[in-house]
Formats: sequence, C-alpha cells, structure tokens
Amino acid sequence: MANTWQSADGFQQNQNVMKQALGYFAFDTALMTAGGIAGGAMSRMPTRAEMHEKRLLNQLFAHDEEMGFHSQRVSRLSGRIAEELRLPASQIRVAEHAGLGHDFGKIKIPAEILKGTRQTLTAGERAIVNTHPIHSKALLETVPYRGVLKEVPTVASQHHEHLNGTGYPYKTTGDQMGMPARVVQVADKVDAMLGPRSYQAGHTPDEIITVLRREVADNHIDPRVVDAFLRIPAVELYRIAQIGHQPIGKQYFLDMNGKTIADYAATAGSAPRLVTIAK
Ligand SMILES: [Fe+2]
Ligand SMILES: [Fe+2]
Repeated sequence: MANTWQSADGFQQNQNVMKQALGYFAFDTALMTAGGIAGGAMSRMPTRAEMHEKRLLNQLFAHDEEMGFHSQRVSRLSGRIAEELRLPASQIRVAEHAGLGHDFGKIKIPAEILKGTRQTLTAGERAIVNTHPIHSKALLETVPYRGVLKEVPTVASQHHEHLNGTGYPYKTTGDQMGMPARVVQVADKVDAMLGPRSYQAGHTPDEIITVLRREVADNHIDPRVVDAFLRIPAVELYRIAQIGHQPIGKQYFLDMNGKTIADYAATAGSAPRLVTIAK
C-alpha cells in the first residue's frame, strides 16, 4: 500500500515510489533537489559501473534496509559538501560514489550483529563489524569504474580512518587521504547524528557542532570539510535526512529562510533537535 506523507517543507513524497527511484543510482538522489550535481543524469543510460553499484546497493537493502538508505543519504551529503567546498567536478563524483559504497561491506557482516542494539555489541562482534571497510573496498573493486572513479574503492574504505592515524581498519593518516575521503568521513558522521537510531535520539544543532569541533580538535577530521558542511542551509540537510524516514513528532527548520545549523545553534542553543524522524 502506498505510504505517503507530507514533509515539513510541503514536499509530497511516496515512500514506495521513492524507494524505487532511490534504488537506482547514486546520482538519482542528487536529482531529488534542485541543483543536484548530476543534473541531467536521468537523460542518459547508466554506465556499467552504475549498474553494478545498483546491484550492490540492492543487496545491501535486502540485508539491512536502513543501511541502504544510510548509503543514499551519505552519497547525497558527500556530494553536497564537496560542492560547497568547490572541489573539481571529478572529485565531487568520487565523493558521491564513495559515499554510496562506503558501507557496502556490511553485506558481509551477519545481519543479527548489524541489527542488534549497537551499544551492546561484544568486543568480538565489534571487531567483526569493524572489518566492513575492508569488505567495502573488495566489493567496490569488482565495479568496472573508469578514469578518476577508480579511486572510489580506496576512498570508500577510508571512512572510519582519522587524520592522526587512530582510526580503522588501516590506521591511514591524513597525508594518504584526499579531499573526497575527508568529505565522506564527515558525511558519514553527520548522517549518524541527523536522525534517531535504535540506540540514540537525533542530535541538536548544538550537539552536532560540538561533536564535529571535538573531532577537529582531536585531528580526526578536516576543519575545512566541517566548515563547508556548516554552510549548507539546514532545510537541504533536512531533505537529505528524510531519505528513508518518515517524519514523526515535531518538525524543525520549517521557516525555509536559508538558515544553517550553525545559525540555529547560535540562536536556539540546545533546542530544538535537528530532525525528529524515524521509519
Ligand atoms: Fe562504516
Ligand atoms: Fe556509514
């Protein structure tokens, strides 16, 4: 049955239609908002690499639906942040595709571990989950990428690394991480904070900024990427955060006046939450 809702910004959406539309390619999600970087993508045939990505994405959806939506949101966020950084078009594409595929390796992680309450993972289970970037790299290496997109498997595999070398799984340092990798790294962290999970509520604008600033201070993530993220109007983040979610309860960012979450944090402090959404 059609599952339709009216989002806070008046954008009528049908979840099933969205799922089908979003199930296609990384760049389809970019077309959901005006000015998507892949404008016109629907007017051409998908490449072999994109068809291969779609098959992997569908496998991830079948394994863990929320993880599939997370991949699409991180792809969109990565593209948008890369755009805000004014990276070359080729690097924006790398960020988008790496954002889509960064967690494809979770296909190889048993569903009962993935879908459990994350806070209660045993050390052994955590170690298994933490191998997923290695699996993502291996799966993405089967995609027939061409040109600059050949960087996608490596970029995607670096999303849990830290610039100071304390991340995982490779303990890669910042000198080996280009801008697309730094973008996906931040987009992944941001998406985890934009909405509630089974084990935590969504974060307030204040909390998001505090977490990101702390990670910058610890030399985990790139301050330029954080600054670019904070320049994106909150209503755009809201639209991205809605992919795969239905709004419940109180909605925020209704005024559509181009405020960023930094503006909200400055004026509203710890209230309200960025988005209150759940499936
Ligand atoms: Fe991950
Ligand atoms: Fe992720």
